[in-house]
Amino acid sequence: MLLQYAATRQDLLMNDAQLVARFEAAQSVSREAGELAISYFRRFGDLQVTAKGLQDMASEADVAVEALIRDRLAARFPEDGFFGEEGGRKDAADSDGGLWVVDPIDGTACFVMGIPVWCVSIAYVDGENVLLGVVYDPNADELFAARRDHGATLNGQPIRASDADSFTNGLVGIGYSTRTAPAPVITFLDRLLAEGGMFIRNGSGALMITYVGAGRLLGYYEAHLNSWDGAAAVAIVREAGGWTNDFLAGDGLLKGNPIAAAAPRLVRGMKQLAGLV
Ligand code: IPD
Ligand code: CA
Ligand code: CA
Repeated sequence: MLLQYAATRQDLLMNDAQLVARFEAAQSVSREAGELAISYFRRFGDLQVTAKGLQDMASEADVAVEALIRDRLAARFPEDGFFGEEGGRKDAADSDGGLWVVDPIDGTACFVMGIPVWCVSIAYVDGENVLLGVVYDPNADELFAARRDHGATLNGQPIRASDADSFTNGLVGIGYSTRTAPAPVITFLDRLLAEGGMFIRNGSGALMITYVGAGRLLGYYEAHLNSWDGAAAVAIVREAGGWTNDFLAGDGLLKGNPIAAAAPRLVRGMKQLAGLV
């Protein structure tokens, strides 16, 4: 019995140490990725841009930055799976262990137009659980990071979600893509404005969700978001004391889900606005 306990405890410690190693790697790789992305961003007008769909594009920067992240993580953790926006499903479906879920540039529509609102998003997940998340905004040199049960930080300093109890106290982030009909977001806006709230859409869902964790936004809603867009930010919001819906539930990893995030005292209100109750 004693031996068994010792082995289990040892396993837990090993797992924790392995997670810490991944957490540190995610932060340093996100900074390196951000530097590479900025080097492309400085010549945004010359980039090769490919349309993936209506209002959905990828530039050569997105592809190169994802390749860098993938290579760096594979070199350090060859046993891990990798699921990046530009590389498609790859190992996601058959990974039975930890999986990196990566959006090399979230906010591509801004990026290719020279608007400095985009970020690098790296999450590490196990099934439906996000174990760590890192969102790096190279334009502001802001690195947001969270590891499960260990809080969330901005450039190493702890962050907390807002303690506001009314949507009249600040801004709510809204996302929209042509993956859904406009109706849900219009209904959401109608309800938010009727309550005296105000919205913002900056072009990067990952950054806006992260801002809920930083106390800068009161909440965020989008009718559909892919796992690579939101997984890292979800970890940050939760570790900062905020709330999100069960973002990776069901087919969420491969197909995406609705996303709602809120400051702790606005959870009920956010659920009502988003039609989740
Ligand atoms: C998009 C952004 C946008 C959100 C879209 C995403 P991309 O990601 O996060 O804010 O509304 O749903 O697809 O294309 O810039 O990586
Ligand atoms: Ca994205
Ligand atoms: Ca992207």
